Amino acid sequence: MKALEIGPGYGTFTVPASKIVGESGKIHALDIQPKVIKNLTAKIEKLGIKNIFPIVGDAYKLPFGDKIFDIVFMVAVLEEIPDRQRALAECKRVLKDGGLLCVGELFPDPDYPLMKTVIKECGKAGFVFEKKFGSWWHYLVRFKK
Ligand SMILES: C[S@@+](CC[C@H](N)C(=O)[O-])C[C@H]1O[C@@H](n2cnc3c(N)ncnc32)[C@H](O)[C@@H]1O
Repeated sequence: MKALEIGPGYGTFTVPASKIVGESGKIHALDIQPKVIKNLTAKIEKLGIKNIFPIVGDAYKLPFGDKIFDIVFMVAVLEEIPDRQRALAECKRVLKDGGLLCVGELFPDPDYPLMKTVIKECGKAGFVFEKKFGSWWHYLVRFKK
């Protein structure tokens, strides 16, 4: 499985995801802050993880070709992006047909949106709602392209 995480931060979800995709899978971890990517790179080197590929970049202009990822995921990121439709259009572009978009949010985050807001935004971008996990204050929503 080839996955893209947008806004990995310190890799809280990147590292477990790298174990889920296994040695034959890849996680590309893209963040707009060079310092975040520097820290994440140091962390995965220390842990000896070989299937995470950190990269500096902007969700508005993903440095990848069309239809190459099986899944794009982000946690506590979408509401930080002012033009969410622009970012979601990029997610759609890089996802394979039938690929998955997963958006997670946590209540203590200052930008935390209600789940219905995320479902509305992703639906507007053309994603099809599939399943929700968790509760109102800590959730993950899965969509299909
Ligand atoms: C609140 S942190 C979440 C970090 C991590 N996902 C977690 O849950 O621990 C949001 C992250 O999104 C990144 N980010 C914000 N806007 C972005 C954009 N336009 N493109 C890529 N990354 C972005 C930030 O630099 C930051 O690392």
